[in-house]
Amino acid sequence: MNSLAPPMGLIAELTHRCPLQCAYCSNPLEMVRPAEELSTAEWLSVIDQAADIGVLQLHLTGGEPMARRDLAQIITHAATAGLYTNLITSGVLLSDTAMADLLDAGIDHIQLSFQEASAELGDKFGGYRGGHAKKLEAAARIRAAGLSLTTNFVIHRQNIAHLDAMIALGEALGSDRIEIAHVQYYGWALKNRDALLPTRPQLVGANACVAAARERLAGRTVIDYVVPDYYAKRPKACMGGWGNRFIHLLPSGRALPCHAAESIPSLTFASVRETSLAAIWNEDPAFARFRGTDWMSEPCQSCDRREIDWGGCRCQALALAGDAAATDPACALSSAHAVLEAITAAEPADLPLFPRRLQL
Ligand code: SF4
Ligand code: FES
Repeated sequence: MNSLAPPMGLIAELTHRCPLQCAYCSNPLEMVRPAEELSTAEWLSVIDQAADIGVLQLHLTGGEPMARRDLAQIITHAATAGLYTNLITSGVLLSDTAMADLLDAGIDHIQLSFQEASAELGDKFGGYRGGHAKKLEAAARIRAAGLSLTTNFVIHRQNIAHLDAMIALGEALGSDRIEIAHVQYYGWALKNRDALLPTRPQLVGANACVAAARERLAGRTVIDYVVPDYYAKRPKACMGGWGNRFIHLLPSGRALPCHAAESIPSLTFASVRETSLAAIWNEDPAFARFRGTDWMSEPCQSCDRREIDWGGCRCQALALAGDAAATDPACALSSAHAVLEAITAAEPADLPLFPRRLQL
């Protein structure tokens, strides 16, 4: 008998199609094409399998998940199967009709992303003219529907000075939760890192801004905020530990322990087109590779945080230390931590952004 606890959540990247062109997109350089996406029937089967193995939450993401015409059908099926459904969207396709369809389907929660506080800069960073105005309308629709609203603001060197205004916008829209997310440097975002990484003084200012907002909004609005890895002394527990809490499904059905796992060339990943979700979770060697603590070497192996942060992020360890099995360089105890210190100490250059242009 297998004694593994079931995954808490299934993160379903329904499609890589997206109307926006964010330079900090963390999807892989090589995207899944529409013809390769799982069909409606395949997604419904995956949802049944997820419910059977004890998954509680379905996070619908992309790309832009609302680009899938069968989104409401997928949500209806998940709700019927007893899964909590969370839609992560840019909101630009969230029309009145789409909102009504989502409500009929039984959506539980919507997380709405913003690129900036103002329309001018929001449209610039999102690469979508009129997008910011559509997001404002989407927020109003979510609130009018009686759903709780989470607004998400991605911050970086080129917008971090406006963090106060972004939090004020989140507040004005009636957010129950405001997520302030530093760019994560995976996939396309890594190409733009040197143009996006905040400076240390900017980070200090942002930390103070969040602390003040938390005090002001205490008891009304939750603010989620984590110091970015590149300035951290200890890493985050990426995905709550590899193969520990989540299964991440690409639009093609390939199952990963995290969204960037395919960057690790020594691992191959199974697809739900060939293997059951249960077999992937319980038996796939790629999921087992960094699960738990047995794979760790020093300093993680004897560290008292090894079951708190699980050694940090495997993909970041590969990208920055050249070894997916190494301690995450975000940890000050890592022998590669100096790599991060050198990156953050570099004089920031005024570099252009390369927007994500999808050729799908
Ligand atoms: Fe986490 Fe390893 Fe650093 Fe300890 S040594 S804090 S387990 S990354
Ligand atoms: Fe892959 Fe962190 S993104 S383990």
